[in-house]
Amino acid sequence: IERTLVLIKPDGVARNLSGAILGRIEAKGYTLAELKKVDASRELLEQHYEEHVGKPFYEPLVEFMLSGPVVAAIFEGHRVIEGFRSLAGTTDPTTAAPGTIRGDFGRDWGLKVQQNLVHGSDSVDSAEREIKIWFQD
Ligand code: GTP
Ligand code: MG
Repeated sequence: IERTLVLIKPDGVARNLSGAILGRIEAKGYTLAELKKVDASRELLEQHYEEHVGKPFYEPLVEFMLSGPVVAAIFEGHRVIEGFRSLAGTTDPTTAAPGTIRGDFGRDWGLKVQQNLVHGSDSVDSAEREIKIWFQD
């Protein structure tokens, strides 16, 4: 069974949207396999976002992810990786389609980083890599 790593970013947790977001993923039919609230370390986030090192939004992104707790989850189901990314919507929450998590709950707040509520792995390889980073135990 395919698995993906889902993160509810600090904006989603701070706005008390964790339950609503997890509920949408479950309602689509995916199964929650693991769930925890985490104060991520800079070291963990640098591993997670290694593909973005050197990009202009990298440092603001890491600072944002350090700004408060995140919820980390593993969801399971056939084609869950693409299914969750479709449910999340496109990266920019201002223009993400209504009906998606980012489109319904998010917008640009005028900051240096896209505060877009959620992360989802983008391939089988990155899901495996990210699950190891967030669920070492
Ligand atoms: P994730 O599921 O979080 O990985 O989002 P994504 O796959 O839609 O985006 P990507 O992996 O390209 O970028 C990771 C995160 O960096 C995004 O979710 C945003 O928070 C932020 N980000 C990406 N691109 C930009 C950008 O062009 N400008 C700004 N300010 N932030 C960005
Ligand atoms: Mg990504």
